[in-house]
Amino acid sequence: MAVLDIVTPKSVHAAVLRSPAKRVRAFDGALHKLLDDMVLTMREANGAGLAAPQIGLDQRISVIEWPEDPDNPEETLRRYEVINPEIIKAKGAEEGQEGCLSLPGLAADVVRATYVLVQYQDRHGKEVRLKTYNWLARIFQHEIDHLHGVLMTDRAETLYRVVENEEGEVELIPIERAIA
Ligand code: CO
Repeated sequence: MAVLDIVTPKSVHAAVLRSPAKRVRAFDGALHKLLDDMVLTMREANGAGLAAPQIGLDQRISVIEWPEDPDNPEETLRRYEVINPEIIKAKGAEEGQEGCLSLPGLAADVVRATYVLVQYQDRHGKEVRLKTYNWLARIFQHEIDHLHGVLMTDRAETLYRVVENEEGEVELIPIERAIA
């Protein structure tokens, strides 16, 4: 397995972050290796989700890792390999603060649906329908946005620069406009 480079707006391949990704048609060994590499890359970067455009690939693929039970995060960590996803239903709206591995140093308050029914394919091409709520629903929406070339900065109610102050504490400084 390999840790892949994560694309940021400063990367040579930055345009891929802004392009709609293409449908996956081959559920083969190359896809499985890619999924394994994406999971490793996401874990190394301490992320909860990673979409293929973030590693420079215009494919409708995302990986997500999130606890099923927030009270038991380590024991219930579940991996989702999400291929060709579509949002079938969305309900509710809640603001929450997001980060993005492609936008280091930024945080954004984004309003997302609190319930999302997603349909996607797993690594073998099998159709999956999944009901997601709250933070997991938020992560799915953030990742599916990536597959449409949409970044959290586009949806931000407020955008922040994440900085460390002199005491080494993390501070969020509101900034006025999306820069990505
Ligand atoms: Co992101």
